[in-house]
Amino acid sequence: MKKNMKAGGPMKALDFCSQEAYTLTQKVNKKLPKGVNVKRISMKYRNPANKPEADEAVVLEALKQLKSANVILPKQIVQKVDGNTYKYYKPLVIHKKVCLKCHGDITDVELRRAIEARYPIDKAIHYKMSDLRGAIVVTIKK
Ligand code: HEC
Repeated sequence: MKKNMKAGGPMKALDFCSQEAYTLTQKVNKKLPKGVNVKRISMKYRNPANKPEADEAVVLEALKQLKSANVILPKQIVQKVDGNTYKYYKPLVIHKKVCLKCHGDITDVELRRAIEARYPIDKAIHYKMSDLRGAIVVTIKK
């Protein structure tokens, strides 16, 4: 995405992002051993495929609470879902201004229209710097 952003600005990067992000995740998952799965989640998701499951939403809410209490978030946390399943979370925070181009108050009209066309129920806007954006989740089943 970085390469596309530099070469053609956010519109080009968007093309790359929306077509590739989800397929990329699926490709990575195919290469992982059986029982291991990786994905991105967010309470305010752009792609409905990134909607958190109930147990994941609880963790995201807890992280949000910690964040608002000025706690420095851990690099990763582990959730024991049941005797056979563990979930590793890496919190994702809006840490670069570039994220706001597509997740902040989008000023580029062309870009905003293109995002709306692809993601009609987009919730992933109006973020500010250092907001909790979501998490990367690695699920490991024994
Ligand atoms: C060029 C536009 C663009 C930029 C810049 C961008 N994103 Fe995104 N982002 C997207 C699109 C499009 C999706 C939906 C991808 C998909 O279909 O899975 C997305 C999805 C996500 C998701 C998955 C959850 C969801 O909402 O579906 C996270 C987390 C995320 N972005 C974080 C970031 C962070 C952090 C940055 C800055 C480092 C960033 N993004 C920069 C366009 C962008």
